[in-house]
Amino acid sequence: MKRNIYKPKIAASILSADFSILGKEVKDVDKAGADIIHIDVMDGLFVPNITIGPDIVSSIRSYSKKIFDVHLMIENPANFIDNFYKAGADIITIHIEAESHPIRTLEYIRSLGIKAGISINPGTSEENLKYLLDYCDLILVMLVNPGFGGQKTIMSQVKKLDNIKQMIKRENKKNILLEVDGGVNIKNFATLVDAGADILVAGSSIFNSGKKMYNKNIKNLRNSWKRSDIKENF
Ligand code: DX5
Ligand code: ZN
Repeated sequence: MKRNIYKPKIAASILSADFSILGKEVKDVDKAGADIIHIDVMDGLFVPNITIGPDIVSSIRSYSKKIFDVHLMIENPANFIDNFYKAGADIITIHIEAESHPIRTLEYIRSLGIKAGISINPGTSEENLKYLLDYCDLILVMLVNPGFGGQKTIMSQVKKLDNIKQMIKRENKKNILLEVDGGVNIKNFATLVDAGADILVAGSSIFNSGKKMYNKNIKNLRNSWKRSDIKENF
């Protein structure tokens, strides 16, 4: 089986962190070895939950120097790009289902000098990405219906991931990063990397077993891929 050449990166989703001490949680998960801090922004309209706004992103920015990966699950995301950019986002990802003019908004995000991501829900076909490849740096494939942490990965999305990877290769857009989000754990991590994931978002599998476990949980995620690699070679 073909492997990604690059080491997969782990993005810790702070949706599962303790919000009463969010800055400290960001610092702790950074120290524990997370490569990226994934921030889920929800508006109660695009998804049935409300979470974090730009002021909170700004207030936790100083707790880590790692990449702040802001996942906007909101209607009319174009209205909020400036606020999240000013708050310290390094990547801003919008949903294809929430934006009538994704090319315009992706171009605008890029014009700020940060990375532009496009995300698709489990029910959306990868065909919709076809005309956006020139305008994005990252594709975020949702493995669950967005809105909540702790859900189970919809495994049919692995095929979609593989299809998108092929599309990226076919169109010679190899700089586009593929990120997956929803239900990532030690059991499916290797499968997702094999299907093309460069960045894997993990919330409950990092945060839900107590503070002392962050480092171990991140290591276990990484090792679950290495281990399967070894197995297959022998
Ligand atoms: C889901 C969010 C995810 C979520 C992942 O709507 O976009 O980032 O926090 O959490 P887990 O890993 O628990 O599925
Ligand atoms: Zn997310």
